Order: sequence, then structure tokens, then C-alpha cells
Amino acid sequence: MKKLNIGLVGFGTVGQGIYKVIGKAKNAHARIARICVAHPEKKRPDDVASAMPLITGNYDELLADPEINLIVEVIDNPDDSYEIVTKALKKGIPVVSGNKIMIARNLPELIDLQREKGVPFLYDASSCGSIPVIRNLEEYYDNDLLLEVKGILNGSSNYILSRVFDHGDKYEDALKMAQELGFAESDPTFDIEGFDALFKLIIITVHALGVYVSPDDVFIYGISKISDFDIRWAREKRAKIKLVAQVVKISEERFTMFVMPEFVEKHKYIYSVDDEYNGVVIRGECYDRQFMFGKGAGSLPTASSILSDVMAIRRDYRYEYKKMSYLDKAEYTTDVMLKVYVRYRQTDIPALLPFSKISEKYTSEQDNYVVGEINLADLIAKRDLLNAEDVFIINIPRFFIDRD
Ligand code: HSE
Repeated sequence: MKKLNIGLVGFGTVGQGIYKVIGKAKNAHARIARICVAHPEKKRPDDVASAMPLITGNYDELLADPEINLIVEVIDNPDDSYEIVTKALKKGIPVVSGNKIMIARNLPELIDLQREKGVPFLYDASSCGSIPVIRNLEEYYDNDLLLEVKGILNGSSNYILSRVFDHGDKYEDALKMAQELGFAESDPTFDIEGFDALFKLIIITVHALGVYVSPDDVFIYGISKISDFDIRWAREKRAKIKLVAQVVKISEERFTMFVMPEFVEKHKYIYSVDDEYNGVVIRGECYDRQFMFGKGAGSLPTASSILSDVMAIRRDYRYEYKKMSYLDKAEYTTDVMLKVYVRYRQTDIPALLPFSKISEKYTSEQDNYVVGEINLADLIAKRDLLNAEDVFIINIPRFFIDRD
């Protein structure tokens, strides 16, 4: 088997983790040959000082180096990532990437490019850090029996919710810690407003159901407006609030997907998924539920997933996207009834949101809430209303609850 000479693009938290992990992994038969960074002059930590002679500021040098036979790309910027990844694939150089934004936005084109050039492009690290969710969905769950993939896909927001919910920390302090610990994106809005989980869900859906849905067409709602009132309400019901992403088959022909805070009761697997951990429930017709759990963010956990893809490249593994060519694929829909809790102060939520049924209503001098049934398409249409500062919405699960 060939020896891999890696051109590493990006040397932040994850890039440095990869440098350390590849250095330790004797059976990978791989070495970091060159490293491209945006700021070559920047001082790096002592434990990666040996990497300094490999550093350049120009990624074209990596692509032009005849020795380099694999690009590992772990930068933040999705536009630069797109440029580097597509250039490498067009040159016939295999790529491993962790850039979920870039992948989720460009996956159809990247799939075509892989097919056209016959070059592998692997990205398990883009979704759920150390959990091997993509390759499992692609290979093991390659049949029609999948009903649902649901879980906690963002480590930072889960860390924040755990600190706020279980330890009584202030939201801002918890967010700061998530940044300091290297879990959060450089713009943490991506984590806390649900974008990061959305991008992962888009990638997961391609490998779970063989369908690409544009990120712009999916409802997301983040955790930034959670209040003590919501936390107390959940505690009274012995539930936790988690940011949950889900893709669910609602019939043979149709599936839906969204990212929302959700009330999670004690008997659910994801109830115990705390801190920066991720947890993914895969549900199928014959096996009910299976659960994957692991660290979803951080330097070494993400690097371990990159290492796994590097070793897979050495064995010439590539995704075949088999499910995309199935004839009977389910279609994406937002025409589905959800049950939600909506807390509000001045915005007149019961009058403005088109609930089909209200089962609970509470009013007080300060906080009010309703629990009711509403179509997901109506939530999307009323997005601006839900964005109001005094409003917070939480999903109350209603799919497959009889089978838990
Ligand atoms: N910011 C991401 C998270 C990193 O918190 O999950 C891993 O994708």
C-alpha cells in the first residue's frame, strides 16, 4: 500500500491535533509533508514547534508538490475551503476535509467532481467529530429500512446547555468556556443558532436517505434566547432542553428535517448526552433504535476522525453515494404537524401563530406560554415572529414516541 504524504491546510485547533495524531499513528504510513496556513508568521504552541519548517502561506505550493498525494483541509473559511478542495480534486489529488459549511453548501457539485475525476473525497470529521456516522450510514445502513436519524450534532451548544441546565452557570460564561476549550466555531453564532447542526444534518441526510436538501430550505432555531423560565418549565416536567437535529421519514414517500431546541425526557438516549459530547439515534424498521455516542468537538477527537479517513484513503475507500441512485427515494416536505412550546412576553403568539390546536396556555404578568400543534411550513413562514427577542420555541417530540 502506498505511503501518504499529506499537505495539511489549516493549523488551528484541529490542524494541530492532526499533526500530533498522525505523528503517533504508526500504521497510517502517513506523514505531514507541508502545512499551509493563512498567517505563517504566527507563533504556534511549543508542542507543535517541530512543524514550523513545514509551514507555507501558499496552498498552491502544496498542490504543485509532486510528493503530496493527499490534501487534508481543516480551515474555517468555506470559500477558501471550496477553492482548495475543488482545485485538488480537479488535479486528481484525494482530499479529506472537515469543513461542514463548505460541504453542505456544495455537496452535489463535489459528488459530480469526484465521479468525473475518479478521486476520493472523505469527510467523516465534518459531522459529529469522533463519531463515525457518515461511513456507517453509507455502508452499514445501506438499505430502505432507515426511518430516522436524530441527535445532538453540535458540541458547543450542548456544552452550554449542560453548564446552564445542570450546573446553573450563566449562559455567557458557558459560551466563553466553549470557545476557550476549542469546541466553538470562530463565529460561535454558527453553533448556538443551529447552523452548525444544520450543515451536519444536510450531509447526514445525503448518506442516510440519498437526498440532498439545500440548507436554505430547512427550519432551524437556536438556543440563544433560552430563559430561566424555560429551564424551570423543563425541570418541572423532569426533562432537559437540548438542541436536536433530526431527519425523519413521516411516510414511505416523504421525510422532513429540522433543527430545534427540544424537550428531552429521561428515558431517551440523548438525555444523558452532556457537555461537548454528541449522540446520534438511528432508527430503522427492523431494529428499532441504535445509538452512537462520542466527543463531537475538540482538537484530538476531530483529528481521530480525520486519521480514520486518511487510513481509508490508503485502502482506496470512497463513498459511492449508492442511495442517491435508488429509484424510490422519499421526498423532502415541510408539510408536517409539530407540537411546540412557545414562550413569549409582549408578542401576541396565540393570535399570530396559526396553531391548529392549543392544548396548554399560561399567562402571567411577565412570561406566558402556549403548547400547541402547528405546521412546520407555518413556522417557516412566521420566522420573523419567532425571531422576536421575547419569543422562544421548543419542540415537543411526536414522531415514533410510541416506540421508545
Ligand atoms: N463547533 C463544532 C461543535 C465543532 O461545537 O460541535 C465540531 O464540528
